[in-house]
Amino acid sequence: MSDKVYRASTTAPVNIAVVKYWGKRDAKLNLPTNSSLSVTLSQADLRTLTTASCSASFPASEGDSLLLNGEPSDISGARTQACLRELRSRRAALEAADPSLPKLSTYPLRLVSENNFPTAAGLASSAAGFAALVRAIANLYELPASPSELSLIARQGSGSACRSLFGGYVAWRMGNKADGTDSMADQVAEASHWPDMRALVLVVSAAKKGVSSSSGMQQTVATSGLFRERIATVVPENMAIMEKAIAEKDFEKFAEVTMRDSNSFHATCADTYPPIFYMNDVSRAAIRAVEAINEKAGRTVAAYTFDAGPNAVIYYQEKDTEAVVGTFYHVLQGADIGGWKSADIKGLKPTISLDE
Ligand code: DP6
Repeated sequence: MSDKVYRASTTAPVNIAVVKYWGKRDAKLNLPTNSSLSVTLSQADLRTLTTASCSASFPASEGDSLLLNGEPSDISGARTQACLRELRSRRAALEAADPSLPKLSTYPLRLVSENNFPTAAGLASSAAGFAALVRAIANLYELPASPSELSLIARQGSGSACRSLFGGYVAWRMGNKADGTDSMADQVAEASHWPDMRALVLVVSAAKKGVSSSSGMQQTVATSGLFRERIATVVPENMAIMEKAIAEKDFEKFAEVTMRDSNSFHATCADTYPPIFYMNDVSRAAIRAVEAINEKAGRTVAAYTFDAGPNAVIYYQEKDTEAVVGTFYHVLQGADIGGWKSADIKGLKPTISLDE
């Protein structure tokens, strides 16, 4: 038996949606009720680095394993298993076609992942995590797969992960096939198309979210009437306006849809029974600050968005750094901005650019 160890490493970035994914039409295949669109943030600031290795010499009794930020992590869940099964079966097909290939598909996998940001910060760590995991194993297995094909696999781990296989502006098309083979991501525009775009991350609370995205969205689908309106008309319209705004680099429109879609998503959470609240008083204060900044500038220079937690991501353009980041720095120092004070916002990442 050879004790050769095969190894591959890759990184994947965090993405933050401007048209949100919220709702599954098929929980097993992780198929969404609506398309979504996100912006991929810089890997220098927020990314997962994953190394996948395998060897015939790894004891079969140990099985597959994952070390996440130095701690053993459970990979027995159905979603992770679906990703591993899919990647193995693609590798097995290559091995069947070419018997000279080593039988990597039969060896135990050792996965080591590290985030360069706190996992508990409430940022979309599962997106970067599953994207990096899928690509690291695909590289290890030398699978001839395009980013869109890998996005099909990563989607089964975590929906938002399918968008982290691309840089820049990325759409996840919901698809309409029952088997999910058309529910994948594609790149709407490269980051270099709009080099001025920046994101500011306001860590309001580093606590883990109360209701996970997976169970929260299931409850929304089951109980919210507003949600039916959201997927029937609101999101399709937002997708169309957003794609046009990106193509035309129209920040005014980009910002309006970003804020409206975040508001719409949180409204469906409030309309869920029992209701789900992800934003808190500090989140709402951040919204007021963005409104005050835009009012002072006399045009829209900043747009807020919130995922399934209280932390804000503020999109703005480089040329408006002073107006936007400057204001939030004052907020952090306890200054009075737009009628409110906040010393609660914990962290600020001022210059996150976009990733290719
Ligand atoms: C609010 O991708 O975490 O961030 O598919 O169940 O893993 P699962 O959900 P997940 O949900 C993300 C929800 C969101 C919006 C978004 O990223 O589009």
